[in-house]
Amino acid sequence: MAPRRGGAYNDLPMDALRVHITAYGCQMNRLDAALVAEVMQAAGALIVADAAEADVLLYLTCAVRGHAEDRVFSNLGALAARKRRRPDLVVGLLGCMAQEHGEAALARAPVVDLVCAPGRLADLPDLVARARAGERPVALDPRREESDAGGAASDAALDRIAVGRAPGGEWPGQAYVVAMRGCDNFCAYCVVPYVRGPERSRPPETILEEARRLVGGGVREITLLGQAVNRYQAASGGRAWDLADLLAAVAAVPDLARLRFVTSHPGAMTPRLALAFRDVPHVMPHLHMPAQAGSDAVLRRMNRGYTAAEYAARVAMVREAAPGVAVVSDFIVGFPGETAADFEATLDLVRRMRFAAGFVFKYSPRPGTAAAREFPDDVPADQKRRRHQALSEAIAAIAAEENRRFVGRRVRVLVEGASPRPNLHAAGRRLRPGWGQLRGRTPCHRLVVLDGPPELIGREVEAEVVEAGAVTMFGRIPEE
Ligand code: 5AD
Ligand code: SF4
Repeated sequence: MAPRRGGAYNDLPMDALRVHITAYGCQMNRLDAALVAEVMQAAGALIVADAAEADVLLYLTCAVRGHAEDRVFSNLGALAARKRRRPDLVVGLLGCMAQEHGEAALARAPVVDLVCAPGRLADLPDLVARARAGERPVALDPRREESDAGGAASDAALDRIAVGRAPGGEWPGQAYVVAMRGCDNFCAYCVVPYVRGPERSRPPETILEEARRLVGGGVREITLLGQAVNRYQAASGGRAWDLADLLAAVAAVPDLARLRFVTSHPGAMTPRLALAFRDVPHVMPHLHMPAQAGSDAVLRRMNRGYTAAEYAARVAMVREAAPGVAVVSDFIVGFPGETAADFEATLDLVRRMRFAAGFVFKYSPRPGTAAAREFPDDVPADQKRRRHQALSEAIAAIAAEENRRFVGRRVRVLVEGASPRPNLHAAGRRLRPGWGQLRGRTPCHRLVVLDGPPELIGREVEAEVVEAGAVTMFGRIPEE
C-alpha cells in the first residue's frame, strides 16, 4: 500500500519513513496508537506491521504497574545492538511512562531518542524530525499543579487528528471514542491522575460527530472511553450532560448496533445510568466496574470512597434496573496491610457478586502515589502470588458457572471475525463446506465461537449455546 501523502498536517520530510507502533496497557493506549498512526501518516510516513523493517519504533507505554514498566525498559535495552548497526534508527518512548519518567528516561534507556507524553502526540512528526537531526527531544504535559487549563491546548490538538479505528485486536466494525481524559479520583495506588492529568470531558457535539463519522464508515459498535467514564460531565445546548445523556445521544446515531462504556467508578454509578441499561436498547448489558477489594479497611486505605456493602448496593441497583447485566471487575491483591481476613473478604465479595469476568493484579508501588509514600509494600511476593492465583481461580469458576447457564439458550452474537484458534471447538462438531470457525460477542460481551460462512462477519446472528467454559462459549446457528 502506498503511503498516504499528507503535507496537510505539516510538511516535514517524513516521506518513505517506515514507522512501527507498539501499544501496551489499556484501551486508551490502543486508541492513542491509532492516533499516532494517523498523525504520522498525515505527515507522509508509512505504518508497517513488521518492526524489523521500520526506521522509527514508537512505544506507547503504560505506567500503571511496575512489572509492565520493567518489561518496556528491558525491551528497549534489547534494541541496543540494532541501534549500533543502524544509528539512524529512531526510538520513541510515548504515553504514560514518558510523562512519568520525563528526561530521566533518556539516561535510563540510552537507545531512546525522543520522549512524548500522552497529551503531546500531535507533536510527533516534529519530534521525530528533531530526533533524526540528532536531538533528543522531550515533550511533556504540564504537571497537574502547574496548569489550571489541564492540558486543554494539547487536547484540542489531539481532537483535530481524525482517528479511524483502533488497530489490531478488535474487529474493524468496532471503535473506541474518548469521552473523557484524565482522572481526579486519586486512588492511593494509582499513577493515572499524575500521568494523564486532570479530568476533562469532551463536548458532546465532538463525540457525536466522531460517532456519526465512524458509523458512516461501517462501524457497528462503539465503546466510549474514560478512566472513570461515568463521571462524564459537560455543558452543552444550555443544559448539563452526564454519561446517561451522552449514551442516549450516541445511541440515536442511525445504524449503530451496540454501545458500551468503560471503565466505571462505583462511586459515580447513578440510578440514571443504571436505567440506561434498561431504557436505551443500544446500551449493552455489560458493566466494567472495578471493586479492587472486598475489605472495607483496604478500600479505605485505597481511597476508593466506598465500602464493600456500597459496592454491592450499586451492583444490585444496576441488576434491578436490568437483570442480565454482566458485571466485570478488577482486583488488586497484596495491597499494603492486606491480611488473610481482608483477602477472605475479597473472595466473599466475588462469591456474592458473581462477576462475569475479573482481572487480578498484584500490587506494585508506583512512584509519586499516596500508597507508595505512606504504606510499606509489606505483603510478601509469594503471598501476593498465592492470593493472585486463588482469586483468579475463584473468579474463573464462577464465570464458568454463569456461562454454563447459557447452554441450551439462544443468544445474539455480533460476529467479529475468524476465530484465532480454529481448532478449539465443541464436541461433535461438523463443519459444512465453505464455512469456517468464527468468533463474536454476546450483548454482555461474552465470547462465542461458532461455525458459519464468512459472510456473517460484521452481522448479528442468533446462535444456540452448546457448550461453555470460563472464557469461551461455543454456539451453533440453528438449522431452520
Ligand atoms: N498495582 C497493581 N495494580 C494496579 N492497578 C492500578 N494501579 C495498580 C498498582 N499500583 C490495577 C487496578 C486498575 C487496573 C487497570 O490496574 O486494578 O483497575
Ligand atoms: Fe486510577 Fe482510581 Fe482513576 Fe481508576 S479511578 S484511573 S484506579 S485513580
